[in-house]
Amino acid sequence: MNMREKIEAAAARYPDQRSAIMPALLIAQKEHGHLPGPVLEEVADILGVERIWVYELATFYTLFHTEPVGMFHLELCDNVSCMLRGSEHLLRHLEVVLGIRKGDTTPDGLFTLSTVECLGACEMAPVMQVGDDYHGDLDIARVDALLECLRATAGLATGADRATPAAPGV
Ligand code: FES
Repeated sequence: MNMREKIEAAAARYPDQRSAIMPALLIAQKEHGHLPGPVLEEVADILGVERIWVYELATFYTLFHTEPVGMFHLELCDNVSCMLRGSEHLLRHLEVVLGIRKGDTTPDGLFTLSTVECLGACEMAPVMQVGDDYHGDLDIARVDALLECLRATAGLATGADRATPAAPGV
């Protein structure tokens, strides 16, 4: 199925097409890697909804990216539970080892570093989401091991498969 067919199939589950915008954006982002303006307009046109509704959702939620992101998007939670368990320290470490600031992408295009609100996994704080995967109970050693795993994965990646490996011990 192409993107249009996937969105139409997802939208068929909703009586109101406006409710299908979120799943449609997830499908489009999976297809394109991020959500530039023309893709947002295409989503709106497929659903037959106002373009502004699609823009509003795409720019409000941190899980949607209107700008290109690296092969691995590191989304470190900096909400209360994770902050109390050292997420600020981990952020500083990530900025140093990656050589970028929060919000930036490494020059090789491998990593984008962001902070996000609660990921709903406070029991394993501090937590970082990478793609569809959560990595918890993080400390410096685990973060370094995770980066090493991701770099190794990138070396093997075909470009189509962006799934992340489980970090050792997580
Ligand atoms: Fe970080 Fe909830 S505060 S997962």
